Amino acid sequence: MRVVSGIQPTGNLHLGNYLGAIVNWVRMQDEGECLFFLADLHAISMPYDRAELGRATREMAAALIAAGVDPERAILFNQARVPAHAELQWLLNGTARMGWLSRMTQFKDKSGKNREGASIALFAYPVLQAADVLLYRATHVPVGEDQKQHIELMRDIADKFNADTETETFVLPEPYIGVTAARIMSLRDGTAKMSKSDPSDMSRINLSDDAALVAQKIRKAKTDPEPLPETMDELAGRPEARNLVSIYAALSDVAPAAVLAEFAGKGFGAFKPALADLTVARLAPVSERFNALKQDAAAIDAILDSGSARAAALGAPVLADAYRALGLLSGR
Ligand code: TYM
Repeated sequence: MRVVSGIQPTGNLHLGNYLGAIVNWVRMQDEGECLFFLADLHAISMPYDRAELGRATREMAAALIAAGVDPERAILFNQARVPAHAELQWLLNGTARMGWLSRMTQFKDKSGKNREGASIALFAYPVLQAADVLLYRATHVPVGEDQKQHIELMRDIADKFNADTETETFVLPEPYIGVTAARIMSLRDGTAKMSKSDPSDMSRINLSDDAALVAQKIRKAKTDPEPLPETMDELAGRPEARNLVSIYAALSDVAPAAVLAEFAGKGFGAFKPALADLTVARLAPVSERFNALKQDAAAIDAILDSGSARAAALGAPVLADAYRALGLLSGR
């Protein structure tokens, strides 16, 4: 089993990233060879602050380590230090189809009404994401539900590349998506996913938030006046309630039904303080480690340097195979 996944270094690591993806990354470190990276090349597909990107990349690396990614066991690096990602993307651009990319919901969401003004990088974003994974012949890609379409696309690209070149250059990766926390929603709107780009900071819990702020965000989270029911089915039509129950379940590592067994008949006046206590207890050690680690830029750079060298060595033979499969005369 070879595991590859990434996270954009823009904004804060929030509870959606943590429960939807990072918890599984940490778990998978014991089960296979893992490569985790900061997707700084993806970050330039949207307007961003050049002066901030380096700091944000180091900070996200610190957040991942604080959350349990262990640079001794997993290879941790940033894309920009491994040029093979960008290089392989170009090779895959010959395989990816305009029609496939046009169907990607992330492109539609992020380009909005201004499609003509969107960058080529935003359109080709999923091809770089395919390169990220195919470069290492990964078998498993732990992600949240929102990335499923991108994983299906990378399988299509790998399959067509292999078929067109009559080779077995790439392995078709499987998405690994947890059940309870696959899609954590905004605290302000149970129909929108919790996201780094939501303008309201009250919509998400960041791993860097202190205990008082976490409690305040949960207290102010949108809910309804009904008590909690006995089954998840009865939460249909109550997206905010469903979301808070899912968060509670994921944080305590039990099924949502077990949470309802405990809280059925109780209102949010009782549930929210319990959720706040649980969230603070789970996140406090992470945010403590994060605050200590992020001060030491040199240590983080050393980790990313060494991770990049290891990643580059693993990717090099696959990249060379891709050049050869395409009939390109390269010096590789
Ligand atoms: P990004 O940076 O948006 O998110 C990182 C991871 O967090 C998951 N996630 C969520 N899971 C549950 N509920 C949510 N509300 C939530 N919000 C985010 C995401 O699914 C993701 O797993 N394109 C990717 C980064 C990337 C990548 C890759 C991932 C680049 N190359 C190759 C896998 C493989 C992204 O922007 O994730």
